[in-house]
Amino acid sequence: MDQFIRDNVEKSEFLVNRSVFTDREMLARERAEIFNKCWLFIGHDTEIAELGDYKRKKVGGRNLLFVRSQDGEIRALFNTCPHRGALIARENEGNSRVFRCFYHAWSFKNDGELVGMPGKDGFPEDFNAEGTKNMKAVKRVENYRGFVFVNFDEDAISLDEYLGNAKEYIDLVVDQSEYGLEAQGGVQEYSVRANWKLLAENSVDLYHGMPTHKTYFDIKQAQDPELKNVKLEGEGVELDNGHAVIEYIAPWGRPVAQWTPIWDDELKQDMERMKVKLADRYGEERADRIANYNRNIVIFPNLVINDIMAVTARTFYPTSPGYMEVSGYSLAPKGEEETHRMARNDNFLEFLGPGGFATPDDNEALELCQEAYNNNEEVEWNDISKGMVRGAGNAMATDEVQMRNFWRQYNARIQESLNKEKEVAQR
Ligand code: FES
Ligand SMILES: [Fe+2]
Repeated sequence: MDQFIRDNVEKSEFLVNRSVFTDREMLARERAEIFNKCWLFIGHDTEIAELGDYKRKKVGGRNLLFVRSQDGEIRALFNTCPHRGALIARENEGNSRVFRCFYHAWSFKNDGELVGMPGKDGFPEDFNAEGTKNMKAVKRVENYRGFVFVNFDEDAISLDEYLGNAKEYIDLVVDQSEYGLEAQGGVQEYSVRANWKLLAENSVDLYHGMPTHKTYFDIKQAQDPELKNVKLEGEGVELDNGHAVIEYIAPWGRPVAQWTPIWDDELKQDMERMKVKLADRYGEERADRIANYNRNIVIFPNLVINDIMAVTARTFYPTSPGYMEVSGYSLAPKGEEETHRMARNDNFLEFLGPGGFATPDDNEALELCQEAYNNNEEVEWNDISKGMVRGAGNAMATDEVQMRNFWRQYNARIQESLNKEKEVAQR
């Protein structure tokens, strides 16, 4: 199967072949061409704020240690012992100058350097002279405004170049606080019986908002009758390198600077003051965009930044074509007042958390798709043409241009590898 998208601009039709959600070979190719070559989010730099802080992370199928070493540098160490391979750090997070392997007790500084092993007399003096017995580090680790990414391809373009014009939207998220964002403690981890690409699509799919999350909107409208008049309006934008964003008027409170009637009156004044401060800092127009608009951003292939009533960074990775593991981190402005933080977190848990109103709905929808792909042999194509008739640059947030952009990037990367293989075979 080498024709897995059909992109017909004339006919305003865009199709995706459903085999990409179920095929094992496809997953192997994705690992090689996408997860081994793209910039992948590992975490926020405030998750490891202090020297010696570390967190275990699974990124692109690897076990990594996200660590702030004693020299202040942020590193991504492969969590495997150079001796016989055991996982070195077993705790999910902690603070330590030294990592000690459970198996034979080799120990390593938190920059990965081997500093001791029992029974040293059994090894030559210059045993680690070349550093080959240190914990190995991912060579490419780069940070954009607190968002730290790794790349397993040493020749990859810089993160800055990779993010391209998506940086404009990340900036809007980060600039809601003059002090930047911080990760709130804890991570939400869950799994979904569906292909990972379905979640990438879902994350910038405003079209499903009303029908899929009807219960949530019904409740919100009961709390705030004004909401009935609010339409989910905005635009869908295709960004560089397969990234995409939907930006639309927030129908609910944003603890940045937009009050909602379900919050105390006291907060209303606070929000107004914050809005004035934002405008002082960035001018009216940018302040309005930061405070009153939601943004759902997909950074290709598997980072979603939701800037809605709370801010989350979510990543996901497939363990099989029909199964993915998801990790979600909540981010919030540094120095935020406690009452605001509480309003934010209530919002977050109520909608975005895995036990909230939205995420279970979404997961249900994705699992329904995956389940029905059992019919792939007879029913082969997904349709994501919505908005194509409007022409380039005119897409609404409820259109599907964001997904088409993802798929075009996906297709380009996979096709490139297929073409190379063909060339080799023909030689
Ligand atoms: S496997 Fe780590 S010390 Fe032996
Ligand atoms: Fe949703």
